[in-house]
Amino acid sequence: MILFIDTADLKEIERWLAAGVGDGVTTNPTLLKKAGFDDPVAAWKQIIGLIQKYSGDSLPLSVEVFRDDPEGMVEQATEFVGALQYAGTTVKIPIQSLDGGDRLRVIKVLSDGGVAVNCTACMHWFQAFCAAKAGAKFVSLLYRRSVDSGLDGLDMIRRTRALLDEHGLGAKIIVGSIRQAQDVLDVYEAGAHVITVPPQFFPQLLHQQRSVETQKQFLIDAGVSP
Ligand code: E4P
Repeated sequence: MILFIDTADLKEIERWLAAGVGDGVTTNPTLLKKAGFDDPVAAWKQIIGLIQKYSGDSLPLSVEVFRDDPEGMVEQATEFVGALQYAGTTVKIPIQSLDGGDRLRVIKVLSDGGVAVNCTACMHWFQAFCAAKAGAKFVSLLYRRSVDSGLDGLDMIRRTRALLDEHGLGAKIIVGSIRQAQDVLDVYEAGAHVITVPPQFFPQLLHQQRSVETQKQFLIDAGVSP
């Protein structure tokens, strides 16, 4: 189970990287806004600093374009890659634009040019499968948004995973849009390679009352007053 941290909150990113739990970070314009950033490149540079401090590695960092036209997307993706100069940079390209058209060609052009693409906002397995065929390194299925739209979100993950495996496509499924702790466990069982987790769910997933009681007993038996 690979776990990314789905936030632009630097304190939370630092907390989970320092604990060795985060294998990468995903951001989007909403998360950047929520964390109070109006300069995305500056925000991403700070996140990269934290990744390098705690992992010394090039963990994937997803940075999302905020243009809607194909040329603009390619231009902005190229600009971000150049500005960040970071081997883990992964550019998020939404599967669709406002005119309802797909952005598979953008994914293909960038991927062919050596840019790691995370195709985001996929609701359905067919979108994710086509994005993988276009060369995306990651395909992001947004679980709860998919459920909100009336789809069977877990089945979307299962079918995407089966297709990627069946066709030997190298893309990894990132499942995002996690809204409760149990979602993390459910989407993993359904076949997610990576789950990008809003950090507030880590403590909930880690907590077991029986663990606390066990530690209490150990401290008592060691003669330490709890
Ligand atoms: C991650 O890559 C997605 O952008 C994110 O998980 C979306 O989450 P939301 O549906 O809760 O906004």
